[in-house]
Amino acid sequence: MRLFKDDQITKSEFMHAFKELPKAELHLHLEAVVSRETVRRFYLRRHPELSDEIADEEINKIFTYSDLNGFINAYIAIQDLYENVDDLDYVFADLKNYLVRNGIVYAEVYAAPSAFMKKGFDFSKMVELYRRNILKIKSETGIIVRILIDVSRTFGMENAEKNLQLLLAYRVNEIIGIGLGGSEQKGPAKLFGDVFTKARENNLVTVAHAGEDVGPESIWDAIEILNVSRIGHGIAAMNDETLMHTLAERKIPLEICPTSNIFTKKFVKDLSEHPMKKFFDKGIVVTLNTDDPLFFGVELLDEYWNAYSKMGFKLPELKQILQNSFIASFMSESQKGSFLASLDLAWENCDLERKKKLKFEMGFVKRSMTLIGAPVAAIFILTTLIVTGVISKFTEQQAYRLMYSNIKECVLSFEKTLSAPSKITESIAWLFKDGFFDDDEKNIQVFENISQVYSDFPGFYGCRSDGTLFCGPNIVPPENYKPLEEEWYTGAVDYGGEMFYSDVYESPLSGSRVVTISRVIFKGDSVDGVVAFDFPLTDLQNFVGEIKSDELDRSFILSPEGYFFMHEKYMPNQNILTVENGIYHDLGETLLLAGDDFVYGKAGDIDYVFRICPIPITGWYYVLGKSIKDVNSFSSATRLLLSVSFFVLFFVIMTITALIISRMKSKEQIASYRLIGETHNLAVSSKENAATAQEQNAAVKEIVATMEDNTALSEDISQKIKDVSGVAKKTSVNVTEGVSYLEENVRQLHEIANANQATINGIKDLGDKIENIWDIVTLINSVADQAKIIAFNAELEASTAGAAGRNFHIVATEIRRLADGIIDGTKEIKSKITEIQQSSDSLILASESGTEKIQEGVANAKNLEERFSSIKNASEITADSAGAITTIIQQQTVASEQILLTLRQIASGVENFSSATAQISVASETLKAIAEDLNK
Ligand code: HPA
Ligand code: ZN
Repeated sequence: MRLFKDDQITKSEFMHAFKELPKAELHLHLEAVVSRETVRRFYLRRHPELSDEIADEEINKIFTYSDLNGFINAYIAIQDLYENVDDLDYVFADLKNYLVRNGIVYAEVYAAPSAFMKKGFDFSKMVELYRRNILKIKSETGIIVRILIDVSRTFGMENAEKNLQLLLAYRVNEIIGIGLGGSEQKGPAKLFGDVFTKARENNLVTVAHAGEDVGPESIWDAIEILNVSRIGHGIAAMNDETLMHTLAERKIPLEICPTSNIFTKKFVKDLSEHPMKKFFDKGIVVTLNTDDPLFFGVELLDEYWNAYSKMGFKLPELKQILQNSFIASFMSESQKGSFLASLDLAWENCDLERKKKLKFEMGFVKRSMTLIGAPVAAIFILTTLIVTGVISKFTEQQAYRLMYSNIKECVLSFEKTLSAPSKITESIAWLFKDGFFDDDEKNIQVFENISQVYSDFPGFYGCRSDGTLFCGPNIVPPENYKPLEEEWYTGAVDYGGEMFYSDVYESPLSGSRVVTISRVIFKGDSVDGVVAFDFPLTDLQNFVGEIKSDELDRSFILSPEGYFFMHEKYMPNQNILTVENGIYHDLGETLLLAGDDFVYGKAGDIDYVFRICPIPITGWYYVLGKSIKDVNSFSSATRLLLSVSFFVLFFVIMTITALIISRMKSKEQIASYRLIGETHNLAVSSKENAATAQEQNAAVKEIVATMEDNTALSEDISQKIKDVSGVAKKTSVNVTEGVSYLEENVRQLHEIANANQATINGIKDLGDKIENIWDIVTLINSVADQAKIIAFNAELEASTAGAAGRNFHIVATEIRRLADGIIDGTKEIKSKITEIQQSSDSLILASESGTEKIQEGVANAKNLEERFSSIKNASEITADSAGAITTIIQQQTVASEQILLTLRQIASGVENFSSATAQISVASETLKAIAEDLNK
């Protein structure tokens, strides 16, 4: 979803909007968030002789480096400017300003105490200062700060170990774990495995800078050997597909600091080459950070703008990055949930969203208005039609009623007007009820008197049946006037006593157009003549014209035959049928047929409604025609008024509805954000619940399994003990048997000992005997020696005896030879004797040691016997106690089977609970989705 065209956003719009969004920063070095002013202050304190400008130049020199190691040296050089622990208060003041300036609501900050400790700062004092300042920032701004101690690879393993020891010794909640910063090349991560393991064993979180200055192998070491939860930088992963995949799969977040990487120049030279977007697209949880604001002249808002304007991130992706910073933090899940909900809310309300929101709201209102408006408009139109219909019908009726009462009024006044001459005519007729006076003068006198008395009505006259005309002075009959042939006379005679009204005609008597009212006079039963009155048509016309109430009205008098009209337009000399092209004649007939009904027709171009009303006495009808427009003018005005009012009402209602809807929408939106937040929390906690339930479930299952194993084991043990008992019993029998064998052995050994002794004695006897032989041999030897001496003497004798001596010599030689033979023989005997003596000595020795051995054997056997008897006892006891143990184990087996049963029930309960919580978890996820849908 694109919020709106991205290229519409300027840097200032962006910065303004992003400042308002709650953000977390996870890779920020405390000593590097210090302000330039604080550094200058420290520098001038160290070098009071320098001017501000020179100090600035010197500080600038410190900030000149081209790689990570150069930067680290600069970092340590700045740390060296601190004189005492309290200097860190300035740093925290700068940190607070930085956080506020950038709209950061949560920060995990690396603090590197090693360089300070080398200067003699006390660790515990530093910890206390961190804590104090963190609480101060929280109370002043609500911002949460947590510390990660950078145990530093620059100062070696022992130093890191010492840092950890101190940290464990002075533990506070505000310090949540350790990190590994410093020279990545000089201090490979793998050297610090023990420190990190120990930290984790002590519930500290662990993170490490890796892949900032060394290749992917450094990151591998950090995740495989150090087992860290997050990687600082990690951009070297861009060169290792497997590593990127692993980071994404294991959801190990990267703390990306783009500008820092450009400064240290190891893997990227320009922001446009930075791999952060690549990581993002590969599903790695990337977060955006500044690392060292003072050193790289960059703040978090700048990095977001960089990500948007130079690194290819779109706004919704930046929202994900904002979310990642909370997700990847070390807060509790519920804390993360509420930060994420507040981010959602702020995102929806931020400047960038406002336009879209406005559009959206208008769209929503428009949609709602079309939805609501169409039926409401239909209802309004229908109502307007019905109401105006009813009302106009009513007003029309009123108008008609009015028209009729008009007509009646007219008829009344007309009647009045006509009734005077007709009444006078009646009275004259009554005067002549016995016929005309015989004295004609008298008759004439009557008419003269009447014309005097009723000067308004000068047209009375009479005519006897012999044709004599009586009249006042106003009437001058023409010559050859034959009254008896006139219609007024013949008509009155035909009407036989009823008043006769003539047609309009040009009266020869008055010389004008008249209607004559006439009545017959009887003398006895025969007609004596007729009395008449000429009603000048002009008078009637005026009258008919006068009684109209409107210019457009048309009024007539209609004869009962339907063609006798009196019309204000009816001019003398004009045939009534020619008036308005004869339409009135046709109309007259229609009107007579219609009777009391209204008749619609046209006069000229105008639509009229006509109605007749009989004029008593005369037999005529008065006709009033009113223009329909006129009749309906009131009702059309009412209709118009009503329609306009309804229209206005409709718009008012729709506008109010639109307002209400848009307000409801924004309220609903706020509510739905809350709902999202709450459902998120619910989802998280129910997930946690579900996880716990599953763990419990697994634990109970394990217990059940263990119990099952236990029961099996008990049965096994019981079996084994039975076996042992059997063996023990057997042993006891065997031992008894063994003991008797032993006794037999001992007895035999005694016998052997005795036999041995006898052998020794025998040998000793033999020795004595050999001793005797030795003596004999010695004797024989001395005899042989004697013989040799004899031989020598004989030799000597022989040498003096000559030839006889030769025999002596032979004898002597023979004796010597014999003596030597004897000596040799005795030698052999001697050596044999010596051998015998030696072997009998060794035999004696052996036999004696045999005797010893036999005695030892006897002692051993005795010993054995004792042992055997104790074994026997023990095995008897073992057999007995094995029996008892078997009973106990059997009892225990029964008990544990019962426990097992109960545990199984608990397990199924926990399983139900676990699946219920899983369902709740799913439900709360669904709820969250619904809440989010609601918000769409
Ligand atoms: N890397 C290593 N050490 C550091 C850094 C860094 O980015 N910043 C401060 N100390
Ligand atoms: Zn760093």
